[in-house]
Amino acid sequence: MPLSDFAFQRCISPACGYTCGVEEVRVACPQCGDLLDVLYDWNRGAVPKSLRWFEETWSRRHEPLRFSGVWRFHELLPFAKPESVVTVGEGQTILHQSDSIGSFVGMKPGRLYLQHEGMNPSGSFKDNGMSAAFTHARATGAKRAACASTGNTSASLAMYCASVRTIKGVIFIGSGKISYGKLSQALDYGALTIQIAGDFDDAMARVQEVSRDLGIYLVNSVNPFRLEGQKTIMFRVLEALRWEVPDWIVVPGGNLGNSSAFGKAFAELKALGLVDRVPRLAVINASGADTLYELYERRGLRWNGGQANMSIADHYFKELDQLGRKANTIASAIEINRPVNLRKCLRALDDLQGVVRQVSDQEILDAKAKVGAGGIGCEPASAASVAGARLLRDQGVISADERVVCILTGHQLKDPTATVAYHTTDQEQFNKVLGSRGVRRASFANRAVAVPNDLGEIVKAINLYS
Ligand code: F0G
Repeated sequence: MPLSDFAFQRCISPACGYTCGVEEVRVACPQCGDLLDVLYDWNRGAVPKSLRWFEETWSRRHEPLRFSGVWRFHELLPFAKPESVVTVGEGQTILHQSDSIGSFVGMKPGRLYLQHEGMNPSGSFKDNGMSAAFTHARATGAKRAACASTGNTSASLAMYCASVRTIKGVIFIGSGKISYGKLSQALDYGALTIQIAGDFDDAMARVQEVSRDLGIYLVNSVNPFRLEGQKTIMFRVLEALRWEVPDWIVVPGGNLGNSSAFGKAFAELKALGLVDRVPRLAVINASGADTLYELYERRGLRWNGGQANMSIADHYFKELDQLGRKANTIASAIEINRPVNLRKCLRALDDLQGVVRQVSDQEILDAKAKVGAGGIGCEPASAASVAGARLLRDQGVISADERVVCILTGHQLKDPTATVAYHTTDQEQFNKVLGSRGVRRASFANRAVAVPNDLGEIVKAINLYS
């Protein structure tokens, strides 16, 4: 049975144009090695005339298809038949509006929004993409699924394996690079966890080899079906804004899957006439893992209609190798120097008039503390979006009355070590965990107060500090 009558895969390089069916399991074009897109012959699909149509489907949420925040937009990612979707109820996430975080960023009241993708079942945005990848994996008969991960992809993969039960999970992680919250999930859900001596970039290179050699289904974001699921983050943002397009989407950049998916989502909505304009895109790197910033803002690498001068990137990667420079940031989720979706992200930056910025670990952790104090909370990598929005406000690129949506990619509890180290009273511990990363001050620390076990002293402390 075909997966879909009107979906197909195509190489993103216009000069190549290789096309194949969605039954094929590929993570690169067999002709030229570029990335693949999942595309649709929309004329043969059932695309609604207005995005408002999706509001009605929510009233049918007893159906698994509509219960999922990914699959209730099935008409906009129809690569699989409704009865074959894999879902654990992912994507039931919320757009928060916050004036306290907004004022930290420098926005006027009512203008800063935060899309909290940490509220997914495994605690990060990855579930959006993983439900799409697992739908494809199961429909194509996969028995094993693998990924390299800084933690969240592996947690999500492990959860879906445990849920579908017919697919065994194999995850590759770098040594000492994964936060305990994330590692605990992979172990608890029962995935085979392979810790290699190296960092994420090493693990990513290895998992691609191993998947190819052993025929294991790869679920990193080189998998084009992953990105179909991640498009729905933008659909939910639009829905929460009553289908009005915001001025800016600000997202952390690691392997660049999200930014690529967001670009594709808006390009498709525009082509379908479902939105009349698109937002601008800001991708935020950590300064210790700033490949996109370096290539896009400093060395002028552009999509250029698909003819991007990739020798600029090749040259840069050689420099990194010669210097032995590895990615290094407290935001371990985005500690990546060789983003696999670089070319798709260049296309998204072109489609959405994008900008790229880098923020320091200090700025990330300060922004994270503000997101926490704003009552929302997120993991360090997610706060890069807020720190980046603040920087763009300072630079006057974003103006105070524009409508800005920052994506919070992962839950606060994913990486408690970084949070506790930031807030701790113990300067020695603070320096041990964060000092080596160039974080010298915890500007918004909420320090624990040590008091003797004595009622009078406790009362005194409460009166003093509250
Ligand atoms: N934020 C979080 C919390 C992440 O886990 C990741 C990526 C990103 C941002 C970057 O997103 O790759 O779409 O640019 N984490 C991957 C992982 C690499 O293995 O969990 P991207």
